[in-house]
Amino acid sequence: MKLRRRLTMVILFFLLAVWSGKREIVAFLEPEYLAEETAPGNLTSVVNAPNRTTAINNDSNTEVNVNRTEREPYRYKPPQLAQVKELGKPFNVSEEITEEVNDLTNHFVELNHRTASKFVILTAASRNHFNESRDCVASAQFYFPGKVIVYYDLGLTESQVEKVQKWKNVEYKTFNFDKYPEHLNRSLHTCVWKAFIIMDVLKRYGGVFWMDASIRLQSNNFTKVFRYAVASDGLVFFRSTGISNYAVTHPTMYEFLPTLQSLQKKTAMHCGCIILVYNTRSIFHNVLRWWLLCAAEEKCIVPIPRTACNLSKESPMETFANCHRFEQSCVNVLVSNYHGYNASIYSVPNQGLISVERWPTNHFKIQTV
Ligand SMILES: *[C@@H]1O[C@H](CO)[C@@H](O)[C@H](O)[C@H]1NC(C)=O
Ligand SMILES: *[C@@H]1O[C@H](CO)[C@@H](O)[C@H](O)[C@H]1NC(C)=O
Ligand SMILES: *[C@@H]1O[C@H](CO)[C@@H](O)[C@H](O)[C@H]1NC(C)=O
Ligand SMILES: *[C@@H]1O[C@H](CO)[C@@H](O)[C@H](O)[C@H]1NC(C)=O
Ligand SMILES: *[C@@H]1O[C@H](CO)[C@@H](O)[C@H](O)[C@H]1NC(C)=O
Ligand SMILES: *[C@@H]1O[C@H](CO)[C@@H](O)[C@H](O)[C@H]1NC(C)=O
Ligand SMILES: *[C@@H]1O[C@H](CO)[C@@H](O)[C@H](O)[C@H]1NC(C)=O
Ligand SMILES: *[C@@H]1O[C@H](CO)[C@@H](O)[C@H](O)[C@H]1NC(C)=O
Ligand SMILES: *[C@@H]1O[C@H](CO)[C@@H](O)[C@H](O)[C@H]1NC(C)=O
Ligand SMILES: *[C@@H]1O[C@H](CO)[C@@H](O)[C@H](O)[C@H]1NC(C)=O
Repeated sequence: MKLRRRLTMVILFFLLAVWSGKREIVAFLEPEYLAEETAPGNLTSVVNAPNRTTAINNDSNTEVNVNRTEREPYRYKPPQLAQVKELGKPFNVSEEITEEVNDLTNHFVELNHRTASKFVILTAASRNHFNESRDCVASAQFYFPGKVIVYYDLGLTESQVEKVQKWKNVEYKTFNFDKYPEHLNRSLHTCVWKAFIIMDVLKRYGGVFWMDASIRLQSNNFTKVFRYAVASDGLVFFRSTGISNYAVTHPTMYEFLPTLQSLQKKTAMHCGCIILVYNTRSIFHNVLRWWLLCAAEEKCIVPIPRTACNLSKESPMETFANCHRFEQSCVNVLVSNYHGYNASIYSVPNQGLISVERWPTNHFKIQTV
């Protein structure tokens, strides 16, 4: 049954690719997507770490950078729970970008059960994902009728832009790649741009529900989501990929973001395709700042080009699969460090909340103004 589904998808993929004549459609052949159905799924989160109450880091976590000058760039200091003593390699990032990142400190939000519903929905698409993104937006309109939906244009056609601008509750934005290093634009599928889009929107709205074009909402009951969001200080994932962070993270990234690699073998990587994040003080100092600096540093975020993962048959979780998941690796390493490798703190069980469909669907009717 599973095999048949996968075969159907492969065939669909080729048909779609041939039909559209676009090489760029990588849609649903994500290695981790396949891994999800084949991996043995024996990822127990291990915490040999002090109890969480001792672990909240805030400004103290960046005190090493208090007297930072241009000659003394930022370096990641792992939070206490990560049980790592060394600092990461310096990020070679321009002053302009560093200032932009630091500007998030002027926009902190307090997160509690009352304020948790103050988020906006955010998505983005290039032209080859436009059709796919339609139902993402339509499902958001359907389940969150009053919410702002911010839609970033990563290279839409003119007629697509015209459509987006007519969608109800949708705020159309372009992303200024010119401001950023070239590797953000080079291969859009590495999703390096995602951190900066989220940053922009967090500055304006404080909370962001990021949905890849492939995400469709299936419910607006966020009771549980908010509980997890508050308990995790403001960043949750929704979907385990069934493979470990270790297997699909290039070791060069750990030079910048030190971690206990032995525990990353036991920590499930979560899909970067759907993230609820708030600009809280703790999340900024422990995750957002470093996610952004890493994203701006090519050697950290794109140490190797995209390659297919070669998952080991014998020990898929403990063996590096010779591939890298770029922005997804980065944010997973940071969040797991912050929470002592205990994914159950930051992973909302997806019980009928969302589905992932990496192709155009027609479950909802898009609402226009
Ligand atoms: C999961 O790990 C446990 C303990 O290491 C082992 O006994 C069990 O066989 C594993 N399960 C699978 C499905 O690999
Ligand atoms: C952590 O909490 C558990 C139960 O709450 C307790 O048994 C354990 O001693 C604590 N560990 C440390 C290192 O404080
Ligand atoms: C966080 O930082 C503030 C200001 O430096 C300090 O007052 C507060 O006690 C810190 N909180 C924790 C949990 O360490
Ligand atoms: C920063 O500089 C001030 C003044 O020179 C000094 O007192 C302080 O200890 C320095 N802080 C750090 C973390 O180096
Ligand atoms: C840092 O980046 C600048 C500009 O991209 C580059 O000229 C310089 O060589 C880099 N320095 C290091 C140590 O990589
Ligand atoms: C997207 O949908 C439009 C019709 O709504 C169709 O003309 C176009 O070929 C589709 N593009 C892709 C890449 O599927
Ligand atoms: C981004 O890449 C595309 C295609 O590779 C190119 O057409 C465009 O000019 C680039 N934009 C910037 C700002 O570099
Ligand atoms: C919403 O979710 C909560 C927690 O999962 C559940 O207890 C509650 O019954 C749900 N409410 C509705 C109206 O479905
Ligand atoms: C995949 O890894 C195995 C060892 O785990 C190796 O024998 C094989 O050559 C690798 N395949 C590719 C395509 O790199
Ligand atoms: C991980 O976090 C969950 C949720 O807070 C907690 O119930 C559990 O005890 C933690 N696991 C370990 C091994 O500490």
